[in-house]
Amino acid sequence: MIERIDLLLTGIGRLVTPIGNVPRYGGEMKELREITNAAVAIQGGRIALVGSEEDVTNRLQGVEIAQTLDARGYLVTPGLVDPHTHLVHGGSREHELALKRSGVPYLDILAQGGGILSTVQATRASSEQQLYDKAYRSLDIMLLQGVTTVEAKSGYGLTLEDELKQLRTAKRLNEMHPIDVVSTFMGAHAVPPEYKGRAHDYVDLVCDMLAEVAQHGLAEFCDVFCEHGVFTVEQSRRILLEGRGLGLLSKIHADEIESLGGTELAGEVGAISAEHLLAASDEGLRMLAANGVIPVLLPGTSFNLGLNKHARARDMIDRFNLPVSLSTDYNPGSCPTESIQLVIMLASLNLKMTPEEILTACTINAANAIGRGDQIGSIEVGKRADITLFDAPNLAYLPYHFGINHAYGVIKNGNVAVW
Ligand code: NIG
Ligand code: FE
Repeated sequence: MIERIDLLLTGIGRLVTPIGNVPRYGGEMKELREITNAAVAIQGGRIALVGSEEDVTNRLQGVEIAQTLDARGYLVTPGLVDPHTHLVHGGSREHELALKRSGVPYLDILAQGGGILSTVQATRASSEQQLYDKAYRSLDIMLLQGVTTVEAKSGYGLTLEDELKQLRTAKRLNEMHPIDVVSTFMGAHAVPPEYKGRAHDYVDLVCDMLAEVAQHGLAEFCDVFCEHGVFTVEQSRRILLEGRGLGLLSKIHADEIESLGGTELAGEVGAISAEHLLAASDEGLRMLAANGVIPVLLPGTSFNLGLNKHARARDMIDRFNLPVSLSTDYNPGSCPTESIQLVIMLASLNLKMTPEEILTACTINAANAIGRGDQIGSIEVGKRADITLFDAPNLAYLPYHFGINHAYGVIKNGNVAVW
């Protein structure tokens, strides 16, 4: 029995949402629930009713409604979820742009002490407040794009104190910003300069850091950059298993640039997600499917690195029945953009995903990639009222009309965050 409604959203031209709490696999990704002339009623930060406007208003006869908003005939989707970002960091790397454009590969810049290591320097030199202020502005941009939950990795500190500084910042952002921020410890993002040539010793340190991070409850996930010249499969396995033993679920930057076996490792350790996967082998993809690992694809990164290569989203969906997810990978090097709507366009252009698959990838599958499928990722009774309103007539319009921001309104936890 509904006694009172905090917020009623009427005049929704078209509401589209995946259904259920669990990931949507392969062919299921295109199956959405669609309601035209819809309404959503919100109570206590959760969805109380969703359906046709006629139905919803009939069921609310005599019920007190605190606020009503007219959605102007626009498109409504679940709030978008960005499950892979390097949100908290110091500085920026536009000084590397000319180098990149002249064709110097990403890993070469890193090997020369630039790339991630240049951001490590800037992050170590930043105060917690500076990191917070910079990341807060990025979250504002994400919110304006229609994003309501973001994962954030550490990995630009690479000492215990500097990693904790990043994680504490993410925690405070989660408390203070309307967007929910979910933390991942990624001490194994690069070998810091003071450990150059001693990667093995640094892996020991990462394992020690993990114990501190777990003890302070500062992260839910543990991630590793498993890549040629960064961390080997063996080192990555050691770190992920150590994290798992402490209750941190595994994530892995796998086969981003070279095929090293990180995808297979994700299957082996039962990771919650495996990210990038440009160079993933068939065997690796088969292992993801067999072990319930969610592939998180980052088409903004391959685009910005100028790689003529893309993750095999069609194979993942059509041949391997995988629940593909999408993310910005927002970071100051390989993908300096907070724009999930750019990613939506690139997923259509380069990954050949359909608009329906893209929405599923950015909502329920992304929510599951960060262990939140029971709370967010679809517009259904009982779920958190995280809702995005787009000034667009239908879903296909989002990747079609590109380079602009279509988001008109965002409701987060039942509160109007953007309108
Ligand atoms: O996901 N590949 C490793 N980490 C990031 C890039 C970080 C950076 O360049 O600062 C990525 O692409
Ligand atoms: Fe990344």
